[in-house]
Amino acid sequence: MKNSLYQSAIDILNSNDRGTYSLPTQGLYPVQFNWDSAFAALGYRLLNPTRAWQEVQQLASSQWPDGMIPHIMFRGDHEGYFPGPEVWNTGQFIPTSGITQPPVLASVVRRLDETHPLDDSNAMQDMLRRLVRWHEWFMQARLDPQSEAILIIHPWESGRDNMSDWDCGMARVEIAELAPYKRRDLDHVDASQRPTKEEYDRYLSIVKFGRDNHWKQDFLGKQSPFRMVDPGMTAFLLRSSRDLLALLNNYQADNTTAIAQVQQHISTLTRGWNNLWNDKVNAYTAYDPVEQRLLDNVTSVSFMSCYAGVCDDTRHGKLMDEFDRISKLAKYMVPSFDPAHADFDAKRYWRGPVWLVINNVIGVGLAEHGETQRAERIRADSEQLVANSDFFEYFNPITGEGLGGKDFTWTATVYLDWVMQGSKNGKD
Ligand code: DGY
Repeated sequence: MKNSLYQSAIDILNSNDRGTYSLPTQGLYPVQFNWDSAFAALGYRLLNPTRAWQEVQQLASSQWPDGMIPHIMFRGDHEGYFPGPEVWNTGQFIPTSGITQPPVLASVVRRLDETHPLDDSNAMQDMLRRLVRWHEWFMQARLDPQSEAILIIHPWESGRDNMSDWDCGMARVEIAELAPYKRRDLDHVDASQRPTKEEYDRYLSIVKFGRDNHWKQDFLGKQSPFRMVDPGMTAFLLRSSRDLLALLNNYQADNTTAIAQVQQHISTLTRGWNNLWNDKVNAYTAYDPVEQRLLDNVTSVSFMSCYAGVCDDTRHGKLMDEFDRISKLAKYMVPSFDPAHADFDAKRYWRGPVWLVINNVIGVGLAEHGETQRAERIRADSEQLVANSDFFEYFNPITGEGLGGKDFTWTATVYLDWVMQGSKNGKD
């Protein structure tokens, strides 16, 4: 029997639906966000597959001429969001931000295609062309030549804004002369659960640098005042590249150029992911391309190796020891940051809280690798978090308290698409 939370999740997807695209939540985020929107499509797939395809097509349609698919699309009434299109000033035909976000789109398109293939072959070909161009853009504009992994030019690109991984990169950003601004996020969420004022000043200083340099992405990849190599971005792109390759083999078997290109991306990113292995902490970690050193922080994305398809046996065993260590410290897996670290903060955004969307990808990867028990621990914890605290944006890993925005689209999607699929409460 499906529980009443199942119906609540459906209600959230419906109320955050804006016809052809979705909002992550009302109030706090009244705009279309890249990876939120891609995940949302997996929820809509269960309600209305046509609507799910519209979601990903709307997202892909915002692609820049250089190939980037941006992190925010300003559609409809976005008045309540800061920084708005006039701050980004990207000059695109759809007003957008000037940076990207984790590339989960190809993986989502593959999932949609498996159950509800698009019945318009031109539209499918168009989608594949856009995906190949976006991935190629990443490899041109965001590949760090030393580590061969993906770098970000703004903490917002990672989707994991205030990770302590970014602290050393953020410390190098000089705070520019900024026009006075009012944060709108604090109208909706308590300041103790959001990034600090100093972080915001730096976020906006990096935006100013991009704007002053006309959002020339190759240049920003080399010269942005903030540059850090992100294991999360690298793992998502690697997984998406494998999924894109499978789609190309199905739909464009004679397009040997695109197939060879994506195969090349997979080889490079596999080396890149392996280069992020840090023997000191037995985990995949972020890399500082300026100081040329791996960081010693174990974070939730350290556990994305199986999802990325790189599960080296020796390293995997050591990584799982780390997973087990953390699972004794956190009541609810997977905290975004190591609870044993001095900078761990159980409430503040990405410095400790659990996010169901990351739980989902780690859980799927572990299950694919035969790690049934650990995958089930993550899934069952996710179910408990929603049962105790509802569909919040993120959760305290120690108390389970719901934090950030309420009635969150991707929490509802992950609940329907993954959490309940493995639960005895989810069966008809
Ligand atoms: C926000 O507005 O906090 C977003 O995370 C920026 O990407």
